[in-house]
Amino acid sequence: MLSAQQLKAGLEYAQDNFENDSAPHLHVDKRVIKDLLDLNGKQVLDFGCGMGGMTLWYGKTWDCEVLGLDIDENHITVSNIMKTRLQIKNVNFEHRNIVEQPLSPEKKFDQIFMNDVVEHIKLPLLKKVFQNLRNILAPDGRIFVSYPPWKSPHASHVSHAVKIPWCQYLPEQTLRRMIAANEHPLVGTNEPNLMAAYDSLNKLEHHIFHPILEKCGWKIDHRKSYSSINKIPGLWNVNLRIFPFNYLITKEFLMLSAK
Ligand SMILES: C[S@@+](CC[C@H](N)C(=O)[O-])C[C@H]1O[C@@H](n2cnc3c(N)ncnc32)[C@H](O)[C@@H]1O
Repeated sequence: MLSAQQLKAGLEYAQDNFENDSAPHLHVDKRVIKDLLDLNGKQVLDFGCGMGGMTLWYGKTWDCEVLGLDIDENHITVSNIMKTRLQIKNVNFEHRNIVEQPLSPEKKFDQIFMNDVVEHIKLPLLKKVFQNLRNILAPDGRIFVSYPPWKSPHASHVSHAVKIPWCQYLPEQTLRRMIAANEHPLVGTNEPNLMAAYDSLNKLEHHIFHPILEKCGWKIDHRKSYSSINKIPGLWNVNLRIFPFNYLITKEFLMLSAK
């Protein structure tokens, strides 16, 4: 059950992700998606839709049908309130653990999104997820994945609270003490606080993820490694992945199709 404070925080976060093209968490996702995709007429799945800000943005921006799924009941509650408020009829939400309850292969999706989800799924399960996704993707369908690689300044998901970028490299005990000192409740039931959010992470990097995708039969059609260097005029298309610039990459973006 959501407290009034959690509900307020969730709705503010979702509204910002929905309407603000400069929202700190997802503004680059929006730009990359707009550059790569036209979702008109498509069946869209938002896997791990969170509080629905992006899911509703897909439904508003394109004439498509969107299903948002999330394992977290509180996130789906916020998503449904947002849908009612915004009166977006081509978007639906469902509370579901898509690992334990895979979707029926009868319905196929042209586009699947996983924005900031893969780094929260334990590696053996991640393999299972990418095997299962083949069953629900349309023949020419594609999967869009974004995630902060473990080397990135905010990959720990707690750096904003402890106010130290790259804090994942502090000694474990020190970091845990700092997280505990800055602890506060989050909106979700699955990751109800900062420590739980930190503990959910699988420390994903491209060199770990790529073999999983290969084994599951996916090929990478497009990869963008976004860092602050891309903010310099004329350098949007640069992907600086060599040391030490790889520590500046805040998000990896992948577009996948079946091999
Ligand atoms: C960091 S949030 C990202 C939410 C949203 N995609 C966004 O970018 O705002 C990760 C989401 O994935 C969801 N999630 C993790 N494992 C899942 C699973 N097995 N099935 C469905 N959702 C899952 C979590 O509950 C959480 O809402």
